[in-house]
Amino acid sequence: MAYMSACLRFISSIGSSSRLILLGPPCCGKGTLAQRLVARYALEHISTGEIFRSHLSTRTPFGEEIRQSMQEGKLISDHLVTNLVLQKLRTVNAGFILDGFPRTLPQAEELHRHFDRIGVIHLDVDDETVLKRLSGRLSCGSCGSVFNLVFCPPKEEGVCDGCGESLLQRLDDTLEVAIERLRNYHQQSEPLIDYYQKLGVLTSFETKALLPDQIFRRVIGEF
Ligand code: AP5
Ligand code: MG
Repeated sequence: MAYMSACLRFISSIGSSSRLILLGPPCCGKGTLAQRLVARYALEHISTGEIFRSHLSTRTPFGEEIRQSMQEGKLISDHLVTNLVLQKLRTVNAGFILDGFPRTLPQAEELHRHFDRIGVIHLDVDDETVLKRLSGRLSCGSCGSVFNLVFCPPKEEGVCDGCGESLLQRLDDTLEVAIERLRNYHQQSEPLIDYYQKLGVLTSFETKALLPDQIFRRVIGEF
């Protein structure tokens, strides 16, 4: 109990200089929560998935290197991802949100060598809910905003509320690829829950029965 309230104090003091990791399975709502935190606190949002998808769509050499793994739902090598994130973090002066990183123990350990005090928000949800959310997801390829046909539809069908661009289904949002992503999550990313719990910086939120705005308010301590 004392442990839980210490972690909650750590998280609930979120502000513009906070350093946060969003941890959880595919479609647990990392991007959705990050959007709301960024709008409130002007934190730098670093989403490894978004960075990779931008390389794919602009067909950079790096994009071509990772294309197959991304399309199959496999993880990109620790070395490539960690270098990319650490490089990006060197340019960030204030607070940040890491969305999708770290996702393996080697990634977490390397990050810890450079930043030893980062709050971790664990968005907990079961596999069945993940698959339901995934089938309705629509994403904006331009600004990265995320919607859902069932749970949080855009105001105008097929159009991003944020920037007015068309909404698309992600290439990795198929049942087959989602099952692979979930398998990777359970094998390689789930051990991070224990790792961060031992460091005393993890707070878990059960998100199955909550809508995105309720989760946001709970995370910032308003609900
Ligand atoms: P990435 O893009 O990070 O994919 P992911 O982890 O599978 O997570 P998603 O983006 O699919 O889901 P999300 O948690 O952001 O949920 P969202 O907010 O969209 O990574 C893609 C790939 O890149 C990986 O497979 C891997 O290949 C590679 N990669 C990335 N990082 C890597 C790393 N560190 N190491 C190695 N490889 C890496 O929400 C999902 C849907 O649910 C939306 O439709 C949303 O509207 C809806 N929703 C959200 N919250 C709720 C709610 N509370 N109730 C109902 N609906 C909700
Ligand atoms: Mg995401």
